[in-house]
Amino acid sequence: SAAEKGGYDWFMLKEIDEQPHALADTLRGRLTDSGEIMLDEVRLTDQDLRDVDKIFIVACGTSFNTGLVAKYAIEHWTRIPCEVELASEFRYRDPVLDRSTLVIVISQSGETMDTIMALRHAKGQKARVLAICNTNGSTIPRESDAVLYTRGGPEVAVASTKAFLTQLAACYLVGLHLAQVRGVKYADEVGAVLAELQATPDKVARLLSEMTPVRQLARDLSAAPTVLFIGRHVGYPVALEGALKLKELAYIHAEGFAAGELKHGPIALIDEGTPVICVVPSPRGRSILRDKIVSNIQEVRARGARTIVIAEEGDLDVAQFADDLIYVPATPTLLAPLMTAVPMQVLAAEIAATRGHDVDQPRNLAKSVTVE
Ligand code: G6P
Repeated sequence: SAAEKGGYDWFMLKEIDEQPHALADTLRGRLTDSGEIMLDEVRLTDQDLRDVDKIFIVACGTSFNTGLVAKYAIEHWTRIPCEVELASEFRYRDPVLDRSTLVIVISQSGETMDTIMALRHAKGQKARVLAICNTNGSTIPRESDAVLYTRGGPEVAVASTKAFLTQLAACYLVGLHLAQVRGVKYADEVGAVLAELQATPDKVARLLSEMTPVRQLARDLSAAPTVLFIGRHVGYPVALEGALKLKELAYIHAEGFAAGELKHGPIALIDEGTPVICVVPSPRGRSILRDKIVSNIQEVRARGARTIVIAEEGDLDVAQFADDLIYVPATPTLLAPLMTAVPMQVLAAEIAATRGHDVDQPRNLAKSVTVE
């Protein structure tokens, strides 16, 4: 009903706006008095976690895209090799698992059948399983050795938004927790990263108050036959997530690419006026990465693309390569997906609405896929 939607036309728009709150809830109260990060239910010892020599992240859909971002953070902070795999592929290919493997399963609902079956396979091979889940007491956390709950509250719209942001926050916490327990070099960074994480809810709130130009852009793009998304580093999974949102909601052909792969095929898709949404990393810090994507933007533009650039506030240089420019608040590179994904959510929802689609219940899709 209209009342349940709190004055919004769609649950999805309401859930997008709930993200600052959901993020703050997920991060709240995670530190012990001695400064250690706590998970929710841990049936594993610190020694078990110190023995981990390999991590798999297993999930479906948007939760899989969360895992792709998490890999960059977890490997950087913990130095443990981490692979990300679709739940529907994982158990059919005989993955190498043993008791020193940590399998992180990510699921909003906790009931996705492919993810449940992957979890059971991992447990059958004696791997340790840690769940990141939004639904208390659902199958996945019940069957796991440890749980970190995202506290996003119920997500009604089929397309995941606040679950994605809160899962990212949860993955950062897990990565930092593992770094602390294992005492690796990057454990030094933990305090600083946590402070940056705590600052993200307010930044997302500010970003959400600046979405009018994105809604305008949505009207402009609503008739596009194809929209491409490019990114590098953590911007690459964000590009995949942006494309997924647009497919799900607007039924527009959309693809995300690692910008470095453009010349190996995707650039052939660029035609006069093809919209290309480009995720640009912070000009601070890893600026080599930023310079590389700026040249990718110039490459697609030279072939006629309409470049829609998502960049960090204060990156004035990038304006000259952007047909449309969306600024997001500054945050460390690894945390930037908490910002850059937001305008993509708004864009996809608004394009879907402009095209007259049901934003909350896209055709052919279900909120939770409980069959394999
Ligand atoms: C379905 C939903 C997606 C979700 C995916 C995984 O496809 O439409 O929004 O990302 O399932 O769901 P889970 O509950 O396991 O995160």
